[in-house]
Amino acid sequence: SWTTGNVIEEQVALIREQVGDRRAICGLSGGVDSAVAAALVARAIGDQLTCVYVDHGLMRKGETEQVEKDFVAATGVKLVVVDAEERFLSALKDVSDPEEKRKIIGREFIRVFEQAQAEIIADEGPAVEFLVQGTLYPDVVESGGGTGTANIKSHHNVGGLPEDLEFQLVEPLRKLFKDEVRMVGQELGLPEEIVQRQPFPGPGLGIRIVGAVTKERLDLLRDADAIAREELTAAGLDRDIWQCPVVLLADVRSVGVQGDGRTYGHPIVLRPVSSEDAMTADWSRLPYDVLAKISTRITNEVRDVNRVVLDVTSKPPGTIEWE
Ligand code: XMP
Repeated sequence: SWTTGNVIEEQVALIREQVGDRRAICGLSGGVDSAVAAALVARAIGDQLTCVYVDHGLMRKGETEQVEKDFVAATGVKLVVVDAEERFLSALKDVSDPEEKRKIIGREFIRVFEQAQAEIIADEGPAVEFLVQGTLYPDVVESGGGTGTANIKSHHNVGGLPEDLEFQLVEPLRKLFKDEVRMVGQELGLPEEIVQRQPFPGPGLGIRIVGAVTKERLDLLRDADAIAREELTAAGLDRDIWQCPVVLLADVRSVGVQGDGRTYGHPIVLRPVSSEDAMTADWSRLPYDVLAKISTRITNEVRDVNRVVLDVTSKPPGTIEWE
């Protein structure tokens, strides 16, 4: 019968058989799937696995620390954290166009990841032949069931690395649905904050700032987002909403009054949605008192924000993210 215990036992045996005494690497995104896949592989092969986490500086408050501390504490995994904030911010300098932002973030991400990979591979140690991926069953079905090897090209200055490095994929979650993945993660001892995490886009807060991305704006958005998350959690609404993007309209200012002075600050948008699969979504009818609390706290506590607005658009026509 299906139990998380059985799934873990079975996968651990399969991974050991597949990898043997060679090594594997895994990119962590902070999301549920890669975290559970990594934890499962770590259970099977211990420090033959190295995880790489690229900190692009676009994460929310506490997320990087969660991976660095809580995930490592729970799994004992060997983790390489690459601090790439400056690199991403300088690549994004003065860029406001959403698609351009996405392209830049994706491109830099691959570069940084490949570089880290090359450094791991270049050390003395058994061959690194495996790449762990958190592919789920719905992903397998959607992509027509194909598998095999990933062709990770390395066109960068990475001494001693083959032109085309082929990895075999390790995909221990290929038969599982999201809720099963969460159960497996829980059984593996991963922290609740990781296992129950709501979806968060790869490009992070970079696509939640309407306007150019700067460190200052990111810090401001991180503060507002942390308040919204805190209050939604306190109100017990985490399971009711699919996710709640918090967006900074950096290119918009409006007049306000705070204390006894006029302000000319930025609006923050709350975008709570309910959804089954993110393909369509409806705006969440959050209790007014929760919205009021979030609004009061954000305008009181976040510098330069003097207005909080609620997005009441379904998808379609609006997407969940603003960019
Ligand atoms: P949209 O904005 O298209 O978002 O309605 C649908 C879902 O996808 C998430 N999203 C992303 N996830 N990389 C990701 O990993 C991305 O580039 C990305 N863009 C959007 C979004 O948060 C929502 O859950």
